[in-house]
Amino acid sequence: MSNRSNGSEPLIVVEGLKKAFYTPAGDFYALKGIDLQIYPGEFVALLGRSGAGKSTLINMLAGIDRPTAGGISIAGQAVHKLSEARLTRWRGREVGVVFQSFQLMPMLTCAQNVMLPMDFAGRYGSPRQQYARACELLATVDIAEHADKLPAAVSGGQRQRVAIARALANDPAFIAADEPTGSLDSRTADAVFAVFQQLVAAGKTIFMATHDRELASHVTRVLRIEDGLIVEDLQLTAVQGEERQHVVEMEA
Ligand SMILES: Nc1ncnc2c1ncn2[C@@H]1O[C@H](COP(=O)(O)OP(=O)(O)OP(=O)(O)O)[C@@H](O)[C@H]1O
Ligand SMILES: [Mg+2]
Repeated sequence: MSNRSNGSEPLIVVEGLKKAFYTPAGDFYALKGIDLQIYPGEFVALLGRSGAGKSTLINMLAGIDRPTAGGISIAGQAVHKLSEARLTRWRGREVGVVFQSFQLMPMLTCAQNVMLPMDFAGRYGSPRQQYARACELLATVDIAEHADKLPAAVSGGQRQRVAIARALANDPAFIAADEPTGSLDSRTADAVFAVFQQLVAAGKTIFMATHDRELASHVTRVLRIEDGLIVEDLQLTAVQGEERQHVVEMEA
């Protein structure tokens, strides 16, 4: 549920955000001026056609790429002002990122993949302690029994759960996800989506690009992006959520 109504401060403030890509044909603005405030506990779905700018915006919020103009502040940190080295360190600690293609390290086990961000951040103690934490996180996404397998030896949905556990490694308040269910079949996508819902219920803030309208109807807020501009910002209230749930149950 959004904390907008109870007067809490936004977790993320995006102001006048523009992103140009330099191409042989000239500058191309993939983001043309985005203003946005995201509040703690929101589950935001970003919808839009292919090429609308979803990944570009997610990459800005995750500190993977930098704005051409405008600013992003997350939990009080002006992200666009950080040097490259500090941005990398900040990202490793403060943001969890989940991609459509999982992007796990194939030669590391599931648990080792989850330990990697802890190691980069120098957190959570010895390797043995990091391993224990990785196993706990894998248990929260229901795949503890696969901890010591390589990613190639588990299913797509299980790989995405490993990627979610990895995103949680340093306990970030904010998770950015770029079509996290895009390469999963619909049942597996539902199960992975349910994991995100549990994370939101546990207090995380999630910003998720998706093409899936059905999933997008189960979040707290829907944004639509077109040609690098936000053209729709729809707050789904808790009551609407319950009504939706009710309708779903009646139809089941
Ligand atoms: N590195 C780049 N250089 C030049 N243009 C780029 C680059 N990255 C993205 N673009 C362009 O920016 C626009 C937005 O791309 P983006 O990847 O954000 O779209 P998207 O909404 O994520 O699409 P999809 O649903 O296909 O993932 C597109 O027109 C794309 O071609
Ligand atoms: Mg994309």
